[in-house]
Amino acid sequence: MRRAPLIRAAITATGRYMPRRAVPNSHFYGELGLDTNEEWIRSRTGVVERRIADVAGGETTASMSAWAAQQCLQRAGVAPEDVDGIVVATITPDQGVTATACIVQELIGATNAWAFDLVAACSGYVFGLSQATAMVRAGMARRVLVIGAETMSSILDYTDRDTCIIFGDGAGCSLVEAVDEGGLEVLDFAMHAAGAGATLLNVPAGGSVRPASHDTVDERLHFVKQDGRAVFKHAVTRISQVITELLDKNGLTADDVALVVPHQANIRIIEACGRRLKVDMGRIAVSVDRWANTTAATIPTTLDLALEEGRIKPGDLVVFAAFGAGFTWGSALLRA
Ligand code: COA
Repeated sequence: MRRAPLIRAAITATGRYMPRRAVPNSHFYGELGLDTNEEWIRSRTGVVERRIADVAGGETTASMSAWAAQQCLQRAGVAPEDVDGIVVATITPDQGVTATACIVQELIGATNAWAFDLVAACSGYVFGLSQATAMVRAGMARRVLVIGAETMSSILDYTDRDTCIIFGDGAGCSLVEAVDEGGLEVLDFAMHAAGAGATLLNVPAGGSVRPASHDTVDERLHFVKQDGRAVFKHAVTRISQVITELLDKNGLTADDVALVVPHQANIRIIEACGRRLKVDMGRIAVSVDRWANTTAATIPTTLDLALEEGRIKPGDLVVFAAFGAGFTWGSALLRA
């Protein structure tokens, strides 16, 4: 059985920012003229609409993160100067060099915080939460903001119906604090990676192997490419496995879990995991219909929504679970 840590780390507040512009499915078969339709998108993905950032109007990965963080800090009653660290999980930073977390630090006035970005795609928030929890428990930090934020629209090929319909933009933030009581205590994690999956889901150019050039732009290599069917199968298998692993090592079963907050890739992935784990949909938080797949932002934004809707009661066990590019996958166990 897990030994209780000397310092208790808990999520004491959350916040989110969703871009103002809601884009319905009709945008793709209407304005963009793609060979797709309402029925296909809704039934194959569960997405009804997604939010798309107005980057020129100021909605960027950093600013969305900052707004989510400000809401989170306000709810916690914590001043920005009292934040020790900021982790931004993202695959769509404002720019290639200079961590988005540093821009956020400046925007919110967290003058005493260190800041770094973390790249683990859709698993980024869970991995970031593990880092924050470990540092708080080790006494290296008392308050860490863990942010999952994406401007996926900046790396989507709007001529590719396989990918562009499933993603959205947004940011979610959690404050992880050393507290004796209250909040959602972070209990444990299970995390994995399998680099063999790197060929199945990626952005081929823009790194040091294929820096931006006329050719890479002409070949549309700066956009997300995926083998959707293969990714789908891996996601269902890995998410189910990693939740079972986490519950097993804590002497729990799926019946003990009050709410699962899964990565929001596709409603069919979520439903398939629920069936495998024998967790009914009433105990699974869903936002893919309204926000689509916002990569690192799905879990913190969906958690924020679940808290807003009063779906987590004192004593409840909550599980987060994610799967994404890398491949990476992981789960977290928390108690309210
Ligand atoms: N509209 C209409 N038809 C579409 C379409 C669209 N937007 N996208 C694909 N299709 C077609 C395909 O071309 C294919 O046609 P074919 O049978 O004539 O070859 C058919 O629909 C089925 O394609 P398939 O890829 O098997 O569909 P799917 O049921 O697997 O759904 C995804 C496609 C991408 C929605 C699904 O695989 C998925 O969600 N995968 C996970 C992706 C993901 O989560 N990535 C992010 C990392 S977590």
